[in-house]
Amino acid sequence: MEKVPLEEFYMVYGPQVLGDPSAPEISAVEQLMDEFDYHEEQEGEFIKEYKEIAERSKNPLVKFLLDLIISDEEKHRAAIHAIVSTLKGDLTWTKREDSFQGFGEFNEEKENKELLKVTADFIKHEKEGIKHYKKLMKSSKGYYFGVFVLLLHSIIRDSEKHVEILEFLRRKLREG
Ligand SMILES: [Fe+2]
Ligand SMILES: [Fe+2]
Repeated sequence: MEKVPLEEFYMVYGPQVLGDPSAPEISAVEQLMDEFDYHEEQEGEFIKEYKEIAERSKNPLVKFLLDLIISDEEKHRAAIHAIVSTLKGDLTWTKREDSFQGFGEFNEEKENKELLKVTADFIKHEKEGIKHYKKLMKSSKGYYFGVFVLLLHSIIRDSEKHVEILEFLRRKLREG
């Protein structure tokens, strides 16, 4: 196996794993990247299939629901793409667009402070939204074959996801 420069190892794992015998080898990172690569392709295939069916459908509800899935799938693809880009960049010692490289060096104190302030507000709004939508879900029961409940439930899960993302961001910003 090719010897990997120490700095590269740092970029992939962070300095804390150096000297840790349980840390994965660089070949494991390559394997991981291949797997993500494969999934990026898969997401693209799914999007294509969903789009074909959505375009053919004349039923407005089917179309609407499939479009919801398609926009989620596009987000999945973007997320996987960013992971692949980051791993590829780290492994080849190149700086890539659409990657997270440089995240650890982000030290703009003013921007961090502003962001920290708004994340707190966003988290509050998301949590309030979840409460309201849960109430609405109860009063929407029985409407239109349960579609309203289905959509509200999906919004609630999205909002929970937003809280998780924002809390992660807040934690990282605080760590500075
Ligand atoms: Fe997906
Ligand atoms: Fe949200």
